[in-house]
Amino acid sequence: MKMPLTIGRAASLRMVPAKWVEPGSAPDLTSRRAHPRPGGQHAREGSPLVFPDGYLPGHSAAILNLYAEMGALVGADVPVLLLGETGVGKEQLALVLHASSPRRHGPFVAVNCAAIPADLLESEMFGIAKGVATGVTERPGRFQLAQGGTLFLDEIGDMPLSLQAKLLRALQGGEIQPVGGPPVRVDARVVTATNSDLDGKMEQGLFRRDLYYRVAGFVLRVPPLRERREDIPGLVQLLLGVFARETGKTIPGLTTEALHALAAYGWPGNVRELEHEIRRLAYLSPDGQAADVHLLSERVLVSREWPAVPPSSLALEGNVEQLERRLIRAALGRARGKRAMAARLLGISRNGLTMKMQRLGLESAPAPATLVS
Ligand SMILES: Nc1ncnc2c1ncn2[C@@H]1O[C@H](COP(=O)(O)OP(=O)(O)OP(=O)(O)O)[C@@H](O)[C@H]1O
Ligand SMILES: [Mg+2]
Repeated sequence: MKMPLTIGRAASLRMVPAKWVEPGSAPDLTSRRAHPRPGGQHAREGSPLVFPDGYLPGHSAAILNLYAEMGALVGADVPVLLLGETGVGKEQLALVLHASSPRRHGPFVAVNCAAIPADLLESEMFGIAKGVATGVTERPGRFQLAQGGTLFLDEIGDMPLSLQAKLLRALQGGEIQPVGGPPVRVDARVVTATNSDLDGKMEQGLFRRDLYYRVAGFVLRVPPLRERREDIPGLVQLLLGVFARETGKTIPGLTTEALHALAAYGWPGNVRELEHEIRRLAYLSPDGQAADVHLLSERVLVSREWPAVPPSSLALEGNVEQLERRLIRAALGRARGKRAMAARLLGISRNGLTMKMQRLGLESAPAPATLVS
């Protein structure tokens, strides 16, 4: 049987003797003109952290707290558990830990425990010994490939119980057992991450408590994007540059209204969702123009007009206007800004829509770009 070495993008093997950005030498990707931030260098100045190329260090209080905790850990070889919602940047931060550690010249090997089928995970992690069966070739597992470096186990909460026992043995004794072979010594620092509720899993007997205490030598909570909104404009600009290059367009920035909508949204999918939204803007925006609010996805536009908490006043006046604004924005978004089509979706005439937009203050011309790339 031939086993695939990599399964899907998420599970793909990444060994990174990469190009690191040393503290202080990182290009400042946020626009100083548009967003003066006197405290903006704190994440780097005086910090022992090394940020990988393409990673934009944040400057919000929540992320600076996290960097401070990470900075205190750089010399220690303790196993670190990163907890955080999907898309917050756990894997990126595992890379920062690796790049800042004495193991930085060794490999960084990532395994997504949720993306590899349970029956393949054991050989993926621990390798296959010689002569296990005819036709099966010997190959190293990711533990061996991470020798001298860092092994990042993503979605550790989804690891099957049988493998948890084997991982525990590897962490306790520094030895792993390849499939069909004798134990071998390994020296890899293990960093784990999950967005699942490990306490709940431990209570249900789905995650071993003894393994938890092995991997959670130091627990770092990665704050969701909505708790660090100050980092949004910088990320928007970074991503706009990336996707402008991808599309071959010149996108001078976002309109103020679009940026406000992004800053106000809840981002349940965190930085990954922001990436998708900016990619969308880059593809839909006309070349040479600031990306406008109408191009945002319906999710962002609708939540902007209709906050999750019930309004404090139940008076119809005001609330109905809010609802009208929400529906008009959603229709304009779905119609890609085309008034006639939006009016059809709303069941009113084009003139009726224009009049309503004027009354609701939605008629204003797009403001000049706040972000200039
Ligand atoms: N500070 C940052 N600068 C640039 N890109 C970032 C930053 N933080 C996160 N990203 C990007 O956001 C996306 C999600 O990050 P990452 O994969 O590290 O998140 P995660 O927490 O591991 O997600 P999941 O829970 O889904 O595994 C990636 O494409 C990553 O490059
Ligand atoms: Mg991840």
